[in-house]
This record gives sequence, structure tokens and C-alpha cells, in this order.
Amino acid sequence: MAEDIWKTSITEIGPGKIKVRGYDIADIMEKLSYAETVYLILKGELPTKAEAALMNAILVSSIDHGASPPSVLGTRTVMSGGNSLNAALAGGVLVIGDAHGGAIEQSAKIMQQWAARGEGRSMKEVAADLVDWLGQTKIRMPGFGHRLHKVDPRTGKLFEIAARYGFSGRHIELCRAIETALAEKTGKSLPINVDGAIAAVISDMGFDWRLGKGFFIISRMPGLLAHAYEEMTREKPMRKLGPLPYEYDGPPERGMK
Ligand SMILES: CC(C)(COP(=O)(O)OP(=O)(O)OC[C@H]1O[C@@H](n2cnc3c(N)ncnc32)[C@H](O)[C@@H]1OP(=O)(O)O)[C@@H](O)C(=O)NCCC(=O)NCCS
Repeated sequence: MAEDIWKTSITEIGPGKIKVRGYDIADIMEKLSYAETVYLILKGELPTKAEAALMNAILVSSIDHGASPPSVLGTRTVMSGGNSLNAALAGGVLVIGDAHGGAIEQSAKIMQQWAARGEGRSMKEVAADLVDWLGQTKIRMPGFGHRLHKVDPRTGKLFEIAARYGFSGRHIELCRAIETALAEKTGKSLPINVDGAIAAVISDMGFDWRLGKGFFIISRMPGLLAHAYEEMTREKPMRKLGPLPYEYDGPPERGMK
């Protein structure tokens, strides 16, 4: 019966035939970059030149950030325990959460909701109200602040590429206005980090905020693979692995009655 047929609009396959969003895989292989193909499969349409350049920059921006991020430690720890490559990669992905890599999702959610609600108002006014709300609710604005970078080099480059291609929109405008409003309200410098910049750009590209973590995962996967492989080939299994020494502060040794 027709209603029992499960439907998908992503890829049509048949003997000798693979069409992604209607485009032949052989054409895609020859004519599109990986970033353009990621855009196509997620959005369903081909990107403009600006969107293609920005998608490439997004996927490159978060490929790796050294050996200390939680997802890298997750991957290396699973590998060090004597597991397979796929287990190590899955372990790294499982570590990605709201505080690591996941800020794209939450940042895009807030920017999309506030930009839509602020229809007809300037983004400066919307940002001022948003920062007041953050103060009242004690919520940290996801996508802002960084442990290491006073100015995140990836943010500047992403916005520079957007400007070069004349790509702009309400979310990039709101993102910049939030940075200014946060500095004015808190007196702290809380720079837009790479997650915040990606959140603004994907929002202006029209992506749903619920895809946010996905962009980080696609970008970071080759980095995790490099770390898994290095751990496998350069380190001995079950080595001492961790960013810092730690001490036990639980109950002292005790007996059972
Ligand atoms: C990334 C992050 C953990 C770095 O923090 P940090 O530099 O170690 O700074 P701290 O956590 O010590 O915070 C310092 C002060 O700035 C404030 N602050 C930090 N980030 C903030 C943010 N995004 N929004 C509002 N206030 C923020 C803190 O409340 C704290 O205020 P206090 O001194 O009055 O308590 C932090 O900025 C954050 O939580 N950002 C939001 C999540 C995010 O974007 N994560 C992705 C990182 S790439």
C-alpha cells in the first residue's frame, strides 16, 4: 500500500545509478568540491560561490585544535585501551557536547530565535535586549569567549571571506552586535569564537540550528582520525594519558564491617 512506502528525498539509487539530490554522483565527483557536496546533501540545492567558499572555510576551520580538546582525549583514550579505529572515532564524537563543539547549535538557536523575533528592529537593539536576558537568566552566550584566544583567528577569517564575497545577513550582524553589547554590559572582552562565527554564517545560509553540531563533527573527524592513527602507531597501549596530573580526594581507605 502506498502509505507503507518509506520516503527519502536525499539520494536515488538503482543499478548503475546514484543521484544525490537529483545530481549524478559522477558529475558531482568531477565538478563539486567536498564542501560543496556537503552543502548540497544538507541543503538540497547547490551553493552559490560565496556559500561554497564559506562552507569550505567552516569545514577547514575546526579540523583540529591540538591534543587537549575533550574529543581528542576521548579518541586517544579509547585507542589507548586497545580498541578499533571505529571505536576510537565514535568515542571522540560522543565526547562532543554543549561545552565542546556543540556551542554552534546553541548559538545558532539563540541567534535564529532572536533575529526572527526582532523583525523590523535594528540588530543593535536586539543584541542589547538579548544581553540583558543573558544577565537575568545567568546564561553564557554560546559562541563567545575563549580560554586561549583573545581574538579567535578563525572568526576573523570566516567574516573576511564573507565580506570578500559580499555575503551578509541579519545573523552575522546580530553576532557582531552581541560581541559589542557583551563588552559594554559586562566590561569583559568576550570575543566571537569559531563556534559563534560558524553559527552566524550557517544561520545566514538558512540552515536549521539543529544541524549545528553536525558541522563541527564533519570538520573535526579528519583531525580525530589523525590523532587515533598517531596514538595507534606512536604510543604504547594504556599509557598515562591526560592533560593534567590528578589527585584522589574521595574517602580514605576503609574496611567493611
Ligand atoms: C569558552 C569558555 C569556557 C572560556 O571561558 P574562560 O575564558 O575560561 O572564562 P571563565 O569561564 O573563567 O569566565 C570568565 C568570566 O567571563 C564570563 N563569560 C565567559 N564566557 C561568557 C559568555 N560566553 N557569555 C557571557 N559571559 C561569559 C563568565 O561568566 C565569567 O564571569 P565572572 O568572572 O563574573 O564569573 C567560556 O567563554 C564559555 O563558556 N563560552 C560559551 C561556550 C562556548 O562558546 N564554547 C565554545 C568554545 S570554542
